[in-house]
Amino acid sequence: MIAAKTSQLAQQVETGQTIGLTFHYHNKSNIQFIGSLIRKILSKNNIIFLQDTLFTILREIIVNAVKANSKRFYFENKKLDIRNPDEYLEGMVDFKNFIVKNQELVEQELKKSSYRVGLYLKKTDDGLKIYVRNNAPILEDELKRIQERIEKAKTYNDFSEVYGDVTDDSEGEGLGLLLTILFLRNSGIGENSLEIKSDGKMTQSSLVVPYQLKPASIVNEIQAQIIDEVKELPSFPEQIYELQRLCNNPDVTIKAVADQIILDPALSASILKLSNSAGFITRKRIESIEDAIKIIGFKNLKAILIASSARTIMDRKYSMYKQIWNHCNRVAYYARHIATKFGYSKIVENVYLSGLLHDLGKIVLLSTSSSLSNWISEVTMNREIRTSTIIEELSIGISHSTIGELIACKWNLPEYLVQTIANHHSPLNAEQKYHPIVYIVYLANEFCNIEQKKYDYGYVEDEVLGLFSLDSEEKFSELHEELIQSYSEQANYLAAQK
Ligand SMILES: [Fe+2]
Ligand SMILES: [Fe+2]
Repeated sequence: MIAAKTSQLAQQVETGQTIGLTFHYHNKSNIQFIGSLIRKILSKNNIIFLQDTLFTILREIIVNAVKANSKRFYFENKKLDIRNPDEYLEGMVDFKNFIVKNQELVEQELKKSSYRVGLYLKKTDDGLKIYVRNNAPILEDELKRIQERIEKAKTYNDFSEVYGDVTDDSEGEGLGLLLTILFLRNSGIGENSLEIKSDGKMTQSSLVVPYQLKPASIVNEIQAQIIDEVKELPSFPEQIYELQRLCNNPDVTIKAVADQIILDPALSASILKLSNSAGFITRKRIESIEDAIKIIGFKNLKAILIASSARTIMDRKYSMYKQIWNHCNRVAYYARHIATKFGYSKIVENVYLSGLLHDLGKIVLLSTSSSLSNWISEVTMNREIRTSTIIEELSIGISHSTIGELIACKWNLPEYLVQTIANHHSPLNAEQKYHPIVYIVYLANEFCNIEQKKYDYGYVEDEVLGLFSLDSEEKFSELHEELIQSYSEQANYLAAQK
């Protein structure tokens, strides 16, 4: 239900319509709904790496709007005049405690009241405009305090300074607001992007998320470095193209191809390694290249040739990113399973290969950005999240999908592979004829991300769920269980063979 609704709303935003959601409280389902919607909108605009930041900021703004409404309702109930400074102070003594301790009651009472919070989204030429409104005017003093907080926040360099300095948190929104400003600045959205105003009837916080996060000059400079980096990658070995042609020849024998391959021991070793990995359901350990071809077939061999060459190039040039490849192996396995299960037998090898290479861009991103570490440290506020690619993408303003696409183009990889790598986080943007492949790899990747507790069912694009008739969370989870089970059986089997 969430998946369908948010996909539809994201599409409306994409076509320029203003969409609005009204709610009374920031309960789990509302927040989840908003998270899913934001992700889908960002994905359509290829700035999905902003997701966590934007979601954190937006949640903060929404919580504050609900809090402002709760405050009015609380004062009315206590028969206190919020505009009277003495009564304001009196009311505030217990307000914070009250809303923390009585969340359910506050939620119920707000529902009965006329207080509402509205979230409005509109795509414009400047970026995605986001408005959060609550139907109570802000007091002059409250607004003044907020503005002071915002100005103060702009003087901080990083989070540690904030934590050391925040003493007066009586209004509750203090720390959140400071963090919001730092997040806005560090993400490239801009610390001046947040605007809070009131017209005497309601209060509005607004924010514009630009599609181009940094001034074009900086983006161009960093992107140029990435593009140079990609240009400097070794070309794809001619021998691989030759082997591909050989495999396409209907008269070729298994032995002829195997003889060619064993001339290259490194290539032979990596083919054997991949053929014995969890990607293939084999009942026998594959010991020779000839056996490998007999068991996995020419189509799979072609996929493995590309995957192992790509990985060899990356591993030689950059330090090994075992975690990324392990993740890719799992995605590839899931993708193959999904394709087989849903009758896409013709593209089984294509989805498998796409899965193996879908996060190729992450490796260049992580490697290149570490050489830009000085520049990045300026925008990095929390070193603990350096392990993820998000902060690198935020700093660079280019996503790992786009970097992967550049690499795939450089290597003249087949078009379906270019499309899948480019769109594995934004499947709807892929060319129509590649939808089945891209959707399968996207879905496999989502399942893996869900295992990392990154997302849940509501975040998955509805069109993709539709293709596999996963119209309920139960069906979705059933398939996920099946994948996990099958993968671990295969991994256990392989471990036992060693
Ligand atoms: Fe990815
Ligand atoms: Fe991935």
